[in-house]
Amino acid sequence: MNLDERFENVSVIGAAGKMGSGIAVLIAQEMAKLKKKNKDKIYRLNLIDISEQALDGLSGYMKAQIIRVAEKSIVFLREMYEERKDLVENIEIINAFVDDTFSVIRCGTELGMAKNSKLIFEAIAENEDIKIKVLKSLDEVCGKETFFLTNTSSIPIGFLDQEAGLDGRIIGYHFYNPPIVQKLVEVITPTTIQKELSDIALELGKRLRKKLVPANDVAGFIGNGHFTRDGLYALNEIERLKDNYSLAGAIYIMNRISQDFLVRPMGIFQLIDYVGIDVFDSILKVMRKHLGDETLRHSLVNSMIEQKVLGGQRPDGSQKDGFLKYEKNRPVGIYDAEKKEYVPINKDLDTKIGALPDNFKPWKALLTEPTKEEKLSDYFASLKGTKTLGAELALSYLAETKKIGEDLVKEGVANSYEDVNSVLTNGFYWVYGPINEYV
Ligand SMILES: NC(=O)c1ccc[n+]([C@@H]2O[C@H](COP(=O)([O-])OP(=O)(O)OC[C@H]3O[C@@H](n4cnc5c(N)ncnc54)[C@H](O)[C@@H]3O)[C@@H](O)[C@H]2O)c1
Repeated sequence: MNLDERFENVSVIGAAGKMGSGIAVLIAQEMAKLKKKNKDKIYRLNLIDISEQALDGLSGYMKAQIIRVAEKSIVFLREMYEERKDLVENIEIINAFVDDTFSVIRCGTELGMAKNSKLIFEAIAENEDIKIKVLKSLDEVCGKETFFLTNTSSIPIGFLDQEAGLDGRIIGYHFYNPPIVQKLVEVITPTTIQKELSDIALELGKRLRKKLVPANDVAGFIGNGHFTRDGLYALNEIERLKDNYSLAGAIYIMNRISQDFLVRPMGIFQLIDYVGIDVFDSILKVMRKHLGDETLRHSLVNSMIEQKVLGGQRPDGSQKDGFLKYEKNRPVGIYDAEKKEYVPINKDLDTKIGALPDNFKPWKALLTEPTKEEKLSDYFASLKGTKTLGAELALSYLAETKKIGEDLVKEGVANSYEDVNSVLTNGFYWVYGPINEYV
């Protein structure tokens, strides 16, 4: 069965969630295009979620997203609707595309809706037991031809395959957030995979215009394998710094070092807040279990969770408080888990950290800078010649982050340095890969 045939009936499970809703938009559009070409065929996209309430808001979200994408591809859509002479204005073409896209969609809470699906995207919560239970139930309602693409961030795919009894009909298809915008998909192919599924996964990537990076089937894969260890390094540095600078001060310092001094889009604690402290912890738990590595934990994370300070996003996309307190999505305070309260940012710490070298350029400016490699090289060379607390912490962090990347290759998680760098630059928007010559 080829991809076009599989596209006739697709299901997304966890469709009302952050990832599921984005995947649903991507797939619905592809199905609408196929429907236009093959008028005699019926296409169905089943959007399944346990939460009735969340499903209620899904169509409004999808409509807004589909309109946004349609506006950007109006030239393509004009060609697609060439024979519809009644459609003149852009808005008429966009509305026709929205109608066609929505005509394939059915929403509901029953897994049984997926029974005729030949392709199922799983994007439910990152919990092994729930994922296995849902995959098993789906396997019972679907035929043995159904292929499963799981969006798990950390659970080994071979383990899910074995526990759910899918006989090689599952692949890790790790979209990044938000799936509509992010080009990267980490593809995790377990040794048990059926060849037809790995071929379909590659073709799907081309169809969705995604950049596929292969990762081996090791808990955490490349993206979270790097992110969690990078976060743990910063957490361990806090232990070292807090006696001199206070707990909140140490968090501020490491957040600033990782953002400004390492020229990243956001500081490490802002990133953990963005992902959710509980999500960060659940990824660590999965990695600890499957890798047998007890160092993948941190007492401060446990303490934040016990105090129910979790970060994460509200449904409208705004940032909830976590390690940092946010006003209009900007950090304005730091959580002190010992005092159990937020304290204001102590700007005197900037003096202690020291100034950035004169040739520093912020992440945003480098994003579009054609000579960014040269600029970064000059900047890090200057940093090496700077004797400040900030420079010292940044250079150690840079070396550690490189080691984490190299170890991912050494331990067989990634096939090459290039793949590690590709995941961090595409998936995490870094302007340089962790494995570099700057350190
Ligand atoms: N959020 C991210 O940045 C991100 C990035 C890449 C991968 N992931 C992975 O994607 C998956 C989903 O993450 P998310 O952030 O979208 O989570 P989410 O909490 O936003 O969405 C999960 C959805 O699954 C639904 N759900 C839970 N149990 C269900 C069940 N038994 N049957 C049907 N629906 C069920 C929930 O109602 C919810 O709508 C996880 O495996 C996560 O690790 C997340």
